[in-house]
Amino acid sequence: MEALRAEILYHNSRYYQFDSPEISDADYDRLLRELIDLETRYPELAAPDSPTQRVGAPPLDKFGAVAHLAPMLSLANAFSAEEIREFDRRCRRWLGSETAVRYVVEPKIDGLAVNLLYERGALRVGATRGDGSVGEDITLNLRTIPAIPLAIPRLENDADRKESEAPPVSERIEVRGEVCMEKEAFRKLNRRRVEEGEVPFANPRNAAAGSLRQLDSRITAKRPLTTFCYAIGTAEGTLLRTHAEVLRALASWGFRVNPLVETVTDIEECIRYYHRIDALRAELPYEIDGIVIKVDDLALQERLGAVSRSPRWAVACKFPALRETTLVEDIIVQVGRTGVLTPVAVMRPVRVGGVTVSRATLHNQDEIDRKDVRIGDTVVIQRAGDVIPEVVEVVKDMRTGEERPFVMPETCPECNSRVTRSEGEAAHRCIGMACPAQLRERIAHFVSRGALDIEGLGEKMAAQLVAAGLIGDPADIFCLSKEKLLGLERMADKSAENLLAAIDRAKRPPLDRLIFALGIRHVGEQTAKRLADAFASINALAAATVEELKSVRDIGPEVAASIAGFFREPANLGVMDKLRRAGVNAREAARQKAASLAGKTFVFTGTLSRMSRSEAKALVESLGGAVGSSVTKTTDYCVSGNEAGSKLEKAKQDGITILDEETFLALIGGGKE
Ligand code: IVH
Repeated sequence: MEALRAEILYHNSRYYQFDSPEISDADYDRLLRELIDLETRYPELAAPDSPTQRVGAPPLDKFGAVAHLAPMLSLANAFSAEEIREFDRRCRRWLGSETAVRYVVEPKIDGLAVNLLYERGALRVGATRGDGSVGEDITLNLRTIPAIPLAIPRLENDADRKESEAPPVSERIEVRGEVCMEKEAFRKLNRRRVEEGEVPFANPRNAAAGSLRQLDSRITAKRPLTTFCYAIGTAEGTLLRTHAEVLRALASWGFRVNPLVETVTDIEECIRYYHRIDALRAELPYEIDGIVIKVDDLALQERLGAVSRSPRWAVACKFPALRETTLVEDIIVQVGRTGVLTPVAVMRPVRVGGVTVSRATLHNQDEIDRKDVRIGDTVVIQRAGDVIPEVVEVVKDMRTGEERPFVMPETCPECNSRVTRSEGEAAHRCIGMACPAQLRERIAHFVSRGALDIEGLGEKMAAQLVAAGLIGDPADIFCLSKEKLLGLERMADKSAENLLAAIDRAKRPPLDRLIFALGIRHVGEQTAKRLADAFASINALAAATVEELKSVRDIGPEVAASIAGFFREPANLGVMDKLRRAGVNAREAARQKAASLAGKTFVFTGTLSRMSRSEAKALVESLGGAVGSSVTKTTDYCVSGNEAGSKLEKAKQDGITILDEETFLALIGGGKE
């Protein structure tokens, strides 16, 4: 269990701290599941800081109050290069320094400040900033965030301390950072919320705030939160001398520290850094709203002190907001895969932060009502990084009285079917089974990357095929012929052949992708994986009762009902049947042998001659085995190819069974299909 824990923690740090995972999500899940199983069987051996302890706890009535050991200050702002230079002059005047002061420059993360108190290496309390002295106790929520270590190694200097010296009275350290949600994760979350008829979050920061303020930490656990840590509050017994050392120490203890941090030797470099980061802003996967300049030397920080709750040794330099005003020329409605109608503002094109914007989502009728957006209104729009632009507010002073309120159409703009809105849902839906817009979106989903992944069949082609009447449901893709394709605009011989070949290759998808491709409501990639693990085939899944579905990990009553409902729908059964007849079937062959390597972990070293590393890995996994990146106590086999490296040495030392390529192929039953 200890080895497994260490392995999981290692992969956590690869993923959350360094953004460079070495194993797939499925492999990671397997490791985690193994640990959960062991902890259930041997609860007395479960460590309090085990990576399994992040799933959330029963809800609270309210958050408690926590006093921070050291106050959480806020930052003074500088709004121009001149004000940045003024900050530098002030620092030097105060320090009586003729020479330059060294600074650390960092991106200013747009999230929520938190304080993490560790006692003897264990996370004890996590709190919001509150009024700077007292915050709210959100420990249970913060414990669910993978990037926050539940335990940190004892302080470095403590480890160096001689046995004879007295240990520090209490080993307490406050780590400070910003909790945020990355843009991509935010988009996914909002998309799901809209699909499910919930109100979307306005921006990643609100999404992070809403997620952190949950009394039920099990909800927080499902939200994709992360952190960047940038300071230490109280640190009893540390011997760190500079802010740069603080950041290095934080990273070495397992905290996520922003990779763009730099140490610079004069204020002009800070100004150049500001412009560099501003230019980079749109490309960053998370939102920032400026940079922070900090005096590097902690002794100098101490001498500078604070004035009215802001330190004199640091300053925030905000970027101009990515906001503009423009005119709403029209409000149109888009129809999604599940029939949800999304109102979209069509605006007079305007440049915001270097990008021309002419459309902004209005989410749903409730949002339009809440903001009172009308056609003809002048509105403030906001583009946060590359997130879809949003209407922030209406400039009411600009109204002429000519503006027209928007009302959701009663019939679908694409197919004229009735539009309905269920009790308690924000979303309006088109109920038309043959709605071309829904069909287009469903097909686009069916062939998309995480689904059947058909090369050359993107959104545009899907729309073209639907418009030409060549396909009426996803199964029709497999009934396409060269003649039919050649009738399409700008479709040449060669591209038709390529497309048909790609379609043919997609006939044997892994089960989880086929399940995901069906577009069952509430069944995302993760849920599809769980279902594929639990059911041997699509037929078995289709036959499952709600009770059986509910017994699958992570599947609740709502999702179970949605799946069962999907397979009761005659039209869907028709499509399933058509797929089968077209020869589309999940790779069941591999699954039948599935048990043969179950529970076995392989590590590869050196080059294999008959297949690539990733093919070998896929083979092992298809037979139920796992592939580790390094030799640990849980490794069962080390497969040694040409020019094997240090892993082979380690495996020999640890007495692990070593297989050459031939023996490996024999073990997995003859190699490739
Ligand atoms: S240092 C006394 N560094 O900005 C110094 N703050 O406007 C305390 N923030 O409350 C903060 N990124 O929530 C620091 N790299 C960074 C930051 C950062 C974001 C936030 C933090 C703070 C606020 C001040």
